[in-house]
Amino acid sequence: MVSGAPSSSVHASFITTTAGLNRQTPPMRLFEKAKRFGIWNPSDLDFSQDIVDWRRLSALEQEVLLHLTSLFQAGEEAVTADILPLLLTVAGEGRLEEEMYLTTFLFEEAKHTDFFRRFLDEVVGAQTDLSHFHTPSYRAIVYEALPTAMRRLLVDPSPAAQVRASVTYNMIVEGVLAETGYHAYLTALERNGLMPGTCRGVRLLKQDESRHIAYGVHLISRLIAADDRLWEVAEETMNDLLRPALGVVADIFGSYETMPFGLDESEFANYALAQFQKRLERIERARGASLEEIDRITDRSIELDDA
Ligand code: MN
Ligand code: FE2
Repeated sequence: MVSGAPSSSVHASFITTTAGLNRQTPPMRLFEKAKRFGIWNPSDLDFSQDIVDWRRLSALEQEVLLHLTSLFQAGEEAVTADILPLLLTVAGEGRLEEEMYLTTFLFEEAKHTDFFRRFLDEVVGAQTDLSHFHTPSYRAIVYEALPTAMRRLLVDPSPAAQVRASVTYNMIVEGVLAETGYHAYLTALERNGLMPGTCRGVRLLKQDESRHIAYGVHLISRLIAADDRLWEVAEETMNDLLRPALGVVADIFGSYETMPFGLDESEFANYALAQFQKRLERIERARGASLEEIDRITDRSIELDDA
């Protein structure tokens, strides 16, 4: 048996027929939100105007959108494939509420993978290998650091390994790379009045991502609150991944002499760095906090997100 799985092969009891569900916890509140907002269907998006818009783009504009899409597509597939060890770890600790929330997380990442593949199939319509867009910085994070940190949980579900996994997945891949990428993508398309179906999908997807990041912040915070030595693990993991994360942004802009859609490198490099700082400061607040305080801080950010 892998050590992330429950240590016993029988159930001693069931949470829902003894204590009941703790609905006031942040993971259950995120689960409620996911049931309301996370059930949009990529198959329902209307890409008809997007197809018209795509055909009118210049070769360079098409190339840049394809480049960005190839990063999103592989990224969504990676997060879909790599979340399972975390579900197993959380389930193994008997955290039913967190496991219930994480079922929506996995479903949503699968939907995002579906969404970008629909864009490629229905709007772009070309079956080409896009992996040449994946530079060493991108590979260092999405091909290597992410699966390494997540699969580690299968043999080592310790709190330190959980912090490394969640920092890599939720803070860097989602909190820095995806947030910056979707911001750039939406800016490029909306500023130029292009591709309404794709924009709608990305806006919905960003809502899902904000719940994912809120869960990650909550997980890392409760681990750091329980053991302050884990702050160093979190900070070190963040810092190790900062250079390749900023490298991903630099590589996109470095690939083109003039960037179309009015995209400006410094705007997005600054945005990525601001996301990084914001996440780091946010999880640092968990140091010395009680679990009740962690719940309250997470609840406040879930509410802010509602606004
Ligand atoms: Mn996603
Ligand atoms: Fe996500």
